Amino acid sequence: MEYSCKDFKVGKCEGQKVVDGETMPLVLQPPEPEKGNFESLLMAIKKNKDWFEEMIIKNSAVLLRGFNLGSAEEFNEIVEAFGWDDIRYVGPAPRTQVYKRVWTANEGPLSEFIYYHHEMVLIKEFPKKLALFCETPPPEGGQTPFVPSFRITERMLEEFPEAVEKIEAKGLKYTFTAQSNKKHTSSSFSSMRGRSWEDAFGTSDRAEAERRTKALGMDVEWLPDGGVTTILGPRCLTKVFDGRKGRRMWFNTLVGMYGKSHSSAMMADGEEIPENVVKRCEEIIEEESIQFDWEKGDVLFFDNLALLHGRRPSLPPRRVLVVTCK
Ligand SMILES: [Fe+2]
Repeated sequence: MEYSCKDFKVGKCEGQKVVDGETMPLVLQPPEPEKGNFESLLMAIKKNKDWFEEMIIKNSAVLLRGFNLGSAEEFNEIVEAFGWDDIRYVGPAPRTQVYKRVWTANEGPLSEFIYYHHEMVLIKEFPKKLALFCETPPPEGGQTPFVPSFRITERMLEEFPEAVEKIEAKGLKYTFTAQSNKKHTSSSFSSMRGRSWEDAFGTSDRAEAERRTKALGMDVEWLPDGGVTTILGPRCLTKVFDGRKGRRMWFNTLVGMYGKSHSSAMMADGEEIPENVVKRCEEIIEEESIQFDWEKGDVLFFDNLALLHGRRPSLPPRRVLVVTCK
């Protein structure tokens, strides 16, 4: 595989790290300043589709910088050029469609940290790739930090080999409680607990909601206050995907859901996971995290099978748009 391409120039960004020999993110810029525009980028991608996709897998994250993308429409066309199928978002994050495949990223309050996750990790069919576009960079903070998932497995195995293999063998069980929007008439965007179950499942009919959750591989328990607890499991702790050097990805949302008021994570048979294991995992994830400051017009591609990602708090305004791809 040739790791250079004359239609892109390899650049640098603050916060880059080299992990197992690969620079993350790989920064690609126009080969000359006059090619710093949407049309040139579109042409460069159409010409180098396969190469570009290889780079996403090899480096896990690719940042396009200096192409001055200006709109959701242009972003949509750039992603379309790859020919990857769209995958519809399913999950608790409040999102709004902006243009065709382009949606807002999580509209939860900017003051809150969105914890690291593989996109739609608990859903049977999750996206292989994510593309993000920075329309309005925040004045401060608001990075989209990401973490090479295999490093978490490696380090957890170094520190807690027995616990890791035990959880892996048993599998994980998660619960997530969503309220009913009949109870909460205020904006469902007002809390990081996300949407009501009616919004999340796209129906206010309980039987239909049950059918839809079953199809996604979940069970539900209705609560006296009209809310619902969704139960998922058993789910994996780690996963190995084709073409990714046999790396064992930390493909779970244990830290994000463990011991919260509206969610929990335990072993699939109900055995509790020791708190110190989860706390240490949280520290390791933060230590392995990589981030850069968004610039207007940036486009970032993630290999969703290889990276966890989150969102740091920021002041407004901040607008980052997203496309999820099969
Ligand atoms: Fe996400």
